[in-house]
Amino acid sequence: MLKGKKIILGITGSIAAYKSASLIRLLVKEGADVRVIITPFGIEFITPLTLSTLSGHPVLSDFFERDNGDWNSHVDMGLWADMLLIAPATANTMAKMARGICDNLLLTTYLSARCPIVIAPAMDMDMFRHPATLKNIEILKSYGNQIIEPATGELASGLEGKGRMEEPEKILEWIKEFFKRKGRFSGKKILITAGPTFEKIDPVRYIGNFSSGKMGIALANKLIEEGAEVKLVAGPIDSSTLHKGVKHIPVVSATEMHEACLKIFPEMDIAIMNAAVSDFRPLEQADNKIKRSTEELELRLVPNPDIAASLGAAKKENQLLLGFALETDEGMTAALAKKKKKNFDMIILNSLQDKGAGFGGDTNMITIVGKDNKSQKFELKSKTEVASDIIDAIFAIFED
Ligand code: CTP
Repeated sequence: MLKGKKIILGITGSIAAYKSASLIRLLVKEGADVRVIITPFGIEFITPLTLSTLSGHPVLSDFFERDNGDWNSHVDMGLWADMLLIAPATANTMAKMARGICDNLLLTTYLSARCPIVIAPAMDMDMFRHPATLKNIEILKSYGNQIIEPATGELASGLEGKGRMEEPEKILEWIKEFFKRKGRFSGKKILITAGPTFEKIDPVRYIGNFSSGKMGIALANKLIEEGAEVKLVAGPIDSSTLHKGVKHIPVVSATEMHEACLKIFPEMDIAIMNAAVSDFRPLEQADNKIKRSTEELELRLVPNPDIAASLGAAKKENQLLLGFALETDEGMTAALAKKKKKNFDMIILNSLQDKGAGFGGDTNMITIVGKDNKSQKFELKSKTEVASDIIDAIFAIFED
C-alpha cells in the first residue's frame, strides 16, 4: 500500500517516542522508505541505534557530520520526501513550527519541505488544552499541515485526559487513507462560494447574516489536499485558516459574488454553492450615514440574483453543480424543490432544528440528497469531517 512512498519520520522529545519503533516497523512493512530525523531531546527517549536498525538507514539529528566534515542538507531531505510525519510532536516543537523557529535539523527540514506535513501531538492533557498550544495547532492547520488528533487516556504524568499520541496502528491507517485520497481530484477545477454577503444600506451599515464561511473553508482545504484546483468566492469571512493553495476571491455583496461566479464557472468541473447569499438588497444605498430620527424608517428591498440558479441554467453536461439548503424546519421537501429549481446534481440539507448544525459553530449535521434523489443522513460531526463526507459523495458520482 505504501510501496515506494518516501516518508521522513520526525521524532521529538516525548515519552511517546518509544512508539516510534513500532511505527517505523509498520511503515517499512507496508513498503515505505523511512528516514528518521530526531531532535536532540528525542535522543534522550529512544536510541538512534534502534531507529536506524528498524529503518535500515542512518538516523539524522545534527546539522553537521562531525566525523567526515559533511553536513546534512535539510533542503534535499525536504524535497525528497512524499510526507514529513512528526510523531511524537511535543508542544515545544509545534510552537517552534508555528513561529518558524528552526534551531534543529527537524525544524529546518520542516520549513524547507514541500510535501504534506502530518503532525501527531503527544503531551500532558493540561499542556494540550492550554490556549497557547491550541492556538499553535490552529496556526499549523492554517499552513495546510495535518494533525492526527491525540487520543484520550492515561498519560505518562499519571493523569487521564487528551494528549496521548495516537497508536502506531491508527497512525498507519491514517497515512494509508491519506495516500489513497491524495490525487483523487487532481486536474479538477472547483468553484466554491462561501460565507455571507453584505448588502450596503449606507456607508457604515449593511444587511448580512451569521454565516462564518467555515463549512466552505473546510471543503476548500480538503479538496486542495486531494489535488483539486480550488477557487473560493467568499463574502466577508475570517480566512486565516484557509489553505494557502486555495485561490481566494473576496467579494462583499451578492451582485459581486454573482459576477465573479459567472466569470469563473465556464472553466470549472464542479461548483459548490455554499454561500449564505442575502436574498434581498436595499433598493437605494444612502451616500451618507442615515441620521437617527424618531420617525419610522422604511427600507425598500429588491431581490438579489440567484447565483446557484444562474449557474444551474448555464451548466454543461460535463459539469457538476452542488447546493446547500439551510432550513429552519425538517426541510426535505424544500431541499428537493431547491435541487430541481436550481438544477443541482446534489443538495446538502442542514436543518437548524438539529442541535449543532448550521451557522457559526464548528459542527454540522447534514443529509446528502444525490442525483437519484436518494438521501443519506449523517450524524453530528466536525465541519472538516462533514467536508470529507460531501467530497466522498462527489467522488462517488465520478466513479459511477
Ligand atoms: N443561493 C445562491 N444565490 C442566492 C440564494 C441562494 O447561490 N441568491 C444558493 C445557496 O448558496 C444554496 C442554495 O442556493 O446553495 C439554497 O440557498 P437557500 O438560502 O437555502 O435558499 P434560497 O434559494 O435563498 O431560498 P429560501 O431563502 O426561500 O429558503
